[in-house]
Amino acid sequence: MIRLAHFSDPHLLSLKGSRVRDFLNKRWIGGLNLLSSRAYCHQTALFESLIEDLKTQQLDHIICTGDLTNVALPSEFEFAQSLFKQMPLKSSEITVIPGNHDAYVDIGKEHFHQWFSDYCTSDDGFKHEISWPFVRVRGNVAIIGLSTSHETPWFTAWGEVGKAQRDRLSEILASPELNTKFRIIAIHHPPSGNYAHHRRHGLHDWDAFAEILKHQGAELVLHGHRHHDIQTSLPGSDGAIVVQGVSSVTYTKKQGTPLGAGYRIYTIDSSNTRTDTPTMVNSERRIWDGSMFVSIEQYNQTCIA
Ligand SMILES: [Fe+2]
Ligand SMILES: [Fe+2]
Repeated sequence: MIRLAHFSDPHLLSLKGSRVRDFLNKRWIGGLNLLSSRAYCHQTALFESLIEDLKTQQLDHIICTGDLTNVALPSEFEFAQSLFKQMPLKSSEITVIPGNHDAYVDIGKEHFHQWFSDYCTSDDGFKHEISWPFVRVRGNVAIIGLSTSHETPWFTAWGEVGKAQRDRLSEILASPELNTKFRIIAIHHPPSGNYAHHRRHGLHDWDAFAEILKHQGAELVLHGHRHHDIQTSLPGSDGAIVVQGVSSVTYTKKQGTPLGAGYRIYTIDSSNTRTDTPTMVNSERRIWDGSMFVSIEQYNQTCIA
């Protein structure tokens, strides 16, 4: 049995050491946004509470689906890494992929690699000439991480998997080593539902991605970006595949709703299945109640009482 947490979009802010010239590019518009609303809506205190909550959950693995930062400043990545180091698992048991804010300007990809490469390394058996997607097999689970984020023009935040990653993803999903594994794909942009089709914020090649899953299958797709706890699905080779998005884990507003701060814990087990492939036996959401993260049941009980 494996217990795995998934959170996303912390948008951690640190301007320490930033210079005016760091904003003489696309960042100036993001900088204005940051200083107006984002810094107020996404608060580090919630991330610190998340770490405390994760420590109590007896987890085997943690997945973060991107947007660690706001405008991809080195100070933001450094700050984010310092917080990830306080988590209850080491980097080999924490998987992180970048979001569009981590590639807000092109150099953001280098910064991500500098501070988070330990969190997105492929297992030796899956090393390849292209570093994305990477594969990490942990027990009966295989985690496949994609990078969809690129610098895009102002007022857009779309993503793209791209042909090279799609071809490699298809090979990975079909590989015999993953035959009996529960295959989880981590991707920042939602690949299904209305948002996937959005011209300025969606995943431009969602249909080509969906085509791969239709033929090769997968057991679960996890994403962020939309800041909304929402489940959709994609057709798979052996029935529908659950596509689960989570809200931003540091969002201070809309408490107790699908938009309010929260994260999910999945339990994956092989003991009760008739086939060789493990199944997801539980998906539970934990949400911010104003002072800590609690189960949805606890939150509802407190509200009724
Ligand atoms: Fe985000
Ligand atoms: Fe995003």
